[in-house]
Amino acid sequence: MPDWYALADLFLSRLDPETAHGLAIRALKSGWVPRDRRPDPPSLAVEIWGRHLPNPIGLAAGFDKNAEVPDAALAMGFGLVEVGSVTPRPQPGNPRPRLFRLREDRGVINRMGFPGEGLEAAFSRLSRRSRSGFVGANVGANKDSADRTADYVTCSKALAPYADYLVCNVSSPNTPGLRNLQGRSQLADLLKRVKEAIADATVPLVVKIAPDATDDDLDDIVAVCRELRLDGLIVGNTTLSRPPSLVSTNRGEAGGLSGLPLAALSTDVLRRTAQRVEGQFPLIGCGGVDSGSAAYAKIRAGASLVQLYSALVFEGPTLVRRIKDELAALLARDGFSSVSQAVGADL
Ligand code: FNR
Repeated sequence: MPDWYALADLFLSRLDPETAHGLAIRALKSGWVPRDRRPDPPSLAVEIWGRHLPNPIGLAAGFDKNAEVPDAALAMGFGLVEVGSVTPRPQPGNPRPRLFRLREDRGVINRMGFPGEGLEAAFSRLSRRSRSGFVGANVGANKDSADRTADYVTCSKALAPYADYLVCNVSSPNTPGLRNLQGRSQLADLLKRVKEAIADATVPLVVKIAPDATDDDLDDIVAVCRELRLDGLIVGNTTLSRPPSLVSTNRGEAGGLSGLPLAALSTDVLRRTAQRVEGQFPLIGCGGVDSGSAAYAKIRAGASLVQLYSALVFEGPTLVRRIKDELAALLARDGFSSVSQAVGADL
């Protein structure tokens, strides 16, 4: 691929990160981002929830909050794309600035607070697109909602017919109190109500959790998910923790930390989750994936699929191709002929 992204990056990296993100969405809408036309290595093909995916590398939620560009993102080479988080009503989110690059640490801190156009806008886009590829819908709650659980129910019910999987995001650190929904009884109540609401749609239901979950939290979360026969867990969201190794000036900003400084922590929580799930449903590993070896580490720790967001900020769209090539080489090196053979190899 031409080195056009390096040139664009010179320009984009000097912009306020939220402005740069807006330009990236516009570029994807206009078709300016290169497509990955090469077929994926056969070893990367994944069967999950009765569907066939060309590769296990996904775009995490938060990049395409309003479902504006799922197909353009798929064309970058992702095997799956997750839109959202979608809230019932439009809301502005937190005051700017609320998105910070930690360039020296290859990390990002955000305290966006679910800014978005709301359910109606996401619904009209998702319901009008022709169904191809694997696109998940991630749902959340409005900040000022009187009944947050009802928000998940409303969004899930509306989007289920147009999503290949549905994610209840109960782990954003930027909506005060939202993470309390990970508590045993609150989570059970929320998931029961969502399951009931989407009973007519045969869509896999997944929960996205925080990488800050303790062993006790994980015991509760996994027990609820197993009891209710959930279809998967995403581990996980951004972290409120701050590794002492951070050096960037922005390290003191409030919000959720993502990118490279989150990689080891989130893989560790993924492993501890996998030990509790015992293969009852698939896991999606997310946090700090910026290379084939980082994706491979998540897979070996128990992930059937992997997602990323922050590394795109630093590496641009050609990263997806590179990760896939590196992952295929690592699988071959270790004698695995498919991703599924490597899932949980380190457990
Ligand atoms: C996010 N993330 C996120 N997650 C989610 O479930 N709903 C959301 O709306 C958002 N919004 C969001 C905005 C921004 C700017 C960032 C950086 C992240 C979290 C994201 O999906 C992912 O879980 C973490 O960022 C960890 O992965 P990476 O970024 O380290 O690859």
